[in-house]
Amino acid sequence: MDHAQALNQRREETARAWAISRGAVLVPAGLMLPVAGTDQFHEFHPHPEHAYLAGASAPAGVLAFDPGAGWTLFAHVPGEDEVVWTGAGEPLEETAAKTGLDRVLPLAALGQWLERRRGEPIAIIGNRDLLTDPRGYGLASFDHLELDVDEELSALLSLSVSESRRAKAPDELEHMRLAAQASRRGHLAGMRLARAGITERQLQVEIEAEFFREGALRTAYSSLVGSGPNGAVLHFAPSPKPMRDGELVLVDAGAEWQQYASDVTRTYPVGQRFEGVHRDLYALVLQVQAEAIAGVRPGVEFKDLHLGAANTLAAGLVDLGILRGNPHDLVDRDVHALFFPHGLGHMLGLSTHDAGGCLAGRQPSDRFGLKWLRADLPLQPGYVVTIEPGVYFIRALLTDPARRAAFADAVAWERVDAMLDLGGIRIEDDVLVTDAGAGVLTAAIPKSIAEIEAIRREALA
Ligand code: GLY
Ligand code: MN
Ligand code: MN
Repeated sequence: MDHAQALNQRREETARAWAISRGAVLVPAGLMLPVAGTDQFHEFHPHPEHAYLAGASAPAGVLAFDPGAGWTLFAHVPGEDEVVWTGAGEPLEETAAKTGLDRVLPLAALGQWLERRRGEPIAIIGNRDLLTDPRGYGLASFDHLELDVDEELSALLSLSVSESRRAKAPDELEHMRLAAQASRRGHLAGMRLARAGITERQLQVEIEAEFFREGALRTAYSSLVGSGPNGAVLHFAPSPKPMRDGELVLVDAGAEWQQYASDVTRTYPVGQRFEGVHRDLYALVLQVQAEAIAGVRPGVEFKDLHLGAANTLAAGLVDLGILRGNPHDLVDRDVHALFFPHGLGHMLGLSTHDAGGCLAGRQPSDRFGLKWLRADLPLQPGYVVTIEPGVYFIRALLTDPARRAAFADAVAWERVDAMLDLGGIRIEDDVLVTDAGAGVLTAAIPKSIAEIEAIRREALA
C-alpha cells in the first residue's frame, strides 16, 4: 500500500469511527505565527490531527468532512507578493497526488462550502484558530455563517482521532525509525565533541547539523543542552556557558522525520569518566530506566510503570544515603518527586508530547508526584512511548523551607546541600510496545557507562 492509499484508508476508518449522519467536521492546520515587530513568521508546525488526516503540512489548510460529500482539502494558494517573497508552494494537483484526496480546492472556496451548510452542526478539531482568526483562512468572519459549532461533538471526535493516533501504522513506524537513526548520528557527534571549553550552544549546533546531514529536515523540538547546574532545569535552552571538567552535560535532542518525532536524552561527563556520586546516580537512573523498559508490554498501566520507577529511584536514593526510610512510604509521600518531578514519559508520534493524556473517563492527578505524568492509560501494541527517568538537584524545590520542614525526616539535607550544583541526569529512549513487550527504537544510541566512557576516552585522547 502506498502512502496515499494508507491515508485514504486512515480517513475511511476515521469516518466510520465518527459515525456522524449530518453536519460537517473541519480540521484546520493552523496559521503561521508572526514574529512580533517583523515581517517574518515562526517555523510552522501543522496541527497533528490535520497532518494525520490530511497528510498535508502547509499552513492555513482546512480538511473538511461531510458524511454525504466525503473529504475535501481547502489549500492556501499564494498570491503574487507571497510567491515573490516566499515561493509558490506546492501545486494543488501535487497535493492531491500525495494525499490521495480527490478534491483539493483553493482555500477561497471554503466560504461557499460552509455557506451551503448554514444552520448545520459543525465540529471543529485540529487548530481552532479558524474560530478566532477566520480572516487568516480567507473568511470575512465565522459568525456570519451561522454555523452551529458543537463543542461536545468536537471534543468527542478529537478524542476519537487521538485514540487512533496512539497505535502507529507500519509507515509511521518507518518514519520514527528514520528519525531515531538521525538522532543517533547527532548524539554520537555530541558525545565525541563535548569537552571543557565547548559551549552548550556549540554542542547543540553540531548535534543538529548531524541530524540534518542524515536527512532530517527539522528538530522535533527545541534541543536542550544543560551542563553542570543547568542540567537541573528540565527544559534548559542551550546557553553560551562553556562546559567544565568535572561537570555532567545533559543533552535532550531529537530529529524529526516526515513530521514524526524522536525524543532522546543522554547525559555524560565533560571529562573521560563518570566520577564519584555522578557515577552512582547515573547507574541508578540507568537501572530505573532498564526496569521500566522491561515492564513495557500490552495492558500495563503507564501510571504503574511510573510509580514502579519512582520506587526504584527512591530505593536507590536510600542506598546512597540521600533519602531515609521505606521507599514505598517515600513514594506515597511524593518525596522522590523532589528529585524526579516529571513523569516517566509520554506518547510520541506526530508531536513530541503526542496523543496521550488520560484514558476517557480518567482525570489528571494534581498530586506533586503525578501531575506531570502526561499519559495515564494502558499500553497497547503499536504505541510509542518515551521512557525517561531522571534525577535532578533543583534549588527551587530543595531549598524551599516548607518542603525541608515537611521532609525533615526523609531527606539527608546536609548531603543534598553539598550537591546543589550537580545539575541533573536523564536517560530517555523511544519505546515501541509490541505483542512481545518492548522494542527500543533508539537502542543504538550508547548509554551504558562502559560505552560512554569508551567514546569519551577516544574523543579526549
Ligand atoms: N524533549 C522533551 C521531553 O523529553 O519531554
Ligand atoms: Mn520526552
Ligand atoms: Mn526529551
